[in-house]
Amino acid sequence: MKKVFIFLGPPGSGKGTQTSRLADKLSIPHIDTGSLLRKNIQDGTELGVIAKSFIDKGQLVPLNVVSDVIKDRLLKDDCLNGYILDGFPRSVEQAEALKVIMDELNTFSLKDDTLAIYFDIPTDVLVQRLVNRRSCPKCGTIYNLISNPPKIMDYCDICDTKLTQRKDDNEETARLRFETYEKETAPLYDYFKQMGILKELDANKSISEIWENLKNIIFDEK
Ligand code: AP5
Ligand code: MG
Repeated sequence: MKKVFIFLGPPGSGKGTQTSRLADKLSIPHIDTGSLLRKNIQDGTELGVIAKSFIDKGQLVPLNVVSDVIKDRLLKDDCLNGYILDGFPRSVEQAEALKVIMDELNTFSLKDDTLAIYFDIPTDVLVQRLVNRRSCPKCGTIYNLISNPPKIMDYCDICDTKLTQRKDDNEETARLRFETYEKETAPLYDYFKQMGILKELDANKSISEIWENLKNIIFDEK
């Protein structure tokens, strides 16, 4: 089985939802650049101030900022057995940077140890998913007011914390995020395909059906 997984797909396609399940199952870390950047914003770091100006406009945060965040994270010991990258790389330029970082770390190789999973879904269903998303600021569990509601409205099932809505989950910013995805991130589909590391997942199904299909892809992969 591969050791490094890259989850590739448009905003709201379910990457975070499935990554958490897989991270639990494989006992490897879920590395989500969006959450790492939001944490910096919340903590008021210098990096967070830069990131906020791009996230609010639905644009990609500059490569040097994201590369530093990822490199710091991949240096931690919990990555020695593998890891799941959710939302990184998000451009061909970032994929090239990841290759360099992985070569430097010398633990896993992009070409031989990595599987990129493409979440295939038409974008017209995604705005509704995004505007109805709520998440737990404490444990990170993701909900949806329509497709996956908490048992008690507005409170986390796991830790009873009041749920929050992401600032970029409004219709206007969501549209800008889709534009950025098409322009910058979609070319990674061909990039990973040519490298021979891409598998596709139909992400327009229920959360549990996608989870079953994801496990089949990952555990069948030699
Ligand atoms: P990020 O936080 O990564 O956002 P994103 O890519 O837009 O993806 P989302 O987190 O919105 O969606 P998801 O696919 O994880 O879906 P989820 O599982 O939550 O990035 C935010 C911003 O940070 C970017 O715009 C950028 O500015 C910056 N950034 C991040 N990484 C960067 C990078 N590498 N470089 C530069 N900038 C970067 O599901 C969504 C909703 O749908 C939930 O409510 C969920 O409950 C529901 N749902 C999930 N699956 C299903 C299903 N099968 N059926 C019905 N509902 C479902
Ligand atoms: Mg996410």
